Amino acid sequence: MIVAEACSGKDQIIAAATLLRDGGVVAFPTETVYGLGAEISQPAAVRRVFDIKKRPLGHPLIVHFADVSGLEHWARHVPTQALRLAERFWPGPLTLILQRSGHVPQNVTGGQDTVGLRVPDHPVAQALLAELGPVRAVAAPSANRFGRISPTTAAHVKEELGEAADMILDGGPCRVGLESTIVGFDGNTPVILRPGGISMEELMEIAGKNVVRPSSMTRTVRVSGSLASHYAPATPLELWRAELLWQRARELEAGGARVGVATWSPQDLSQRRSRENKNLAHFFMPPEPVSYGRLLYASLRQWDHEGFDHLLVELPPNDPAWAAIGDRLRRASGNTQVYGNMENETTT
Ligand code: TXA
Ligand code: MG
Repeated sequence: MIVAEACSGKDQIIAAATLLRDGGVVAFPTETVYGLGAEISQPAAVRRVFDIKKRPLGHPLIVHFADVSGLEHWARHVPTQALRLAERFWPGPLTLILQRSGHVPQNVTGGQDTVGLRVPDHPVAQALLAELGPVRAVAAPSANRFGRISPTTAAHVKEELGEAADMILDGGPCRVGLESTIVGFDGNTPVILRPGGISMEELMEIAGKNVVRPSSMTRTVRVSGSLASHYAPATPLELWRAELLWQRARELEAGGARVGVATWSPQDLSQRRSRENKNLAHFFMPPEPVSYGRLLYASLRQWDHEGFDHLLVELPPNDPAWAAIGDRLRRASGNTQVYGNMENETTT
């Protein structure tokens, strides 16, 4: 396996594009998380992506291509709202679920007649897709094993996949750090299927008030990131409101457990520093969602490596700008109860 240098150069992009065209599997950076890519007309390579991830074959992959002009090549019957969203947010962290055109093989979409389409906003991903050419596209799930934390650096990809990919392109740490927002359509009405890098407010600026955010994630389309336990660290993770979190930490400590605590509240920063000891480590997360989102997966990974018996994470604010973070933390906790007052709960 080749691991390309940080901020992969032209030669490495050409090598990666050649590998993809020849049926290889290449991990590459996007602005959200790293993807594990196969060129969509290479069935054996697409199959390898499922096998490497240990992902069930019925879970569809997102198809990545170079720019919005490819939309009508890969999809048909595109609703006007989908076109408007694509024109505004591509390249960017938005995936549109649309009717698949005949150019998208069914093995990529898990047998469904719809396809997830995305134009990533990362110079390495952009260069790779441009090098591949306009009638080619790359099916790429996040480059982690099924159910695990998505990688946001090339080192995380290596940690997840070992030597399984033919090449890893290194584009540095991902800017967004959380997966794309997935939007399906009920007629012309956008329906958010997975909160992510584009917020509900941003979508509403283009699509108007008519954006549906299902409170229950149960539906007929299959979005594996919506399974109750996903994006999960190996260490048991609990979500707590700040006041009760410290009581819980003390109880666990008293029982001899090693505890990692992660909070974001500014008041917590000033008050709690004194609580650290050899059995309790306190991590301060940023009090605003863009920086928090960028750090979340790398932090979960780091905390997992520290060998805690428990991770206690402060509940994020009940604010739409934090929706993707609340969603991922809930799934990282196995969607168990949130401890604390329920009006503080994020509804994801
Ligand atoms: O930011 C991202 O979206 C990253 C980067 C690599 O682009 N990709 C990513 O892929 O998160 P993955 O496979 O880990 O998650 C894609 C989600 C899955 O939950 C899948 O079920 C859903 O998108 N999906 C893909 N095609 C779909 C379709 N036709 N209908 C419904 N859901 C679909
Ligand atoms: Mg994933």
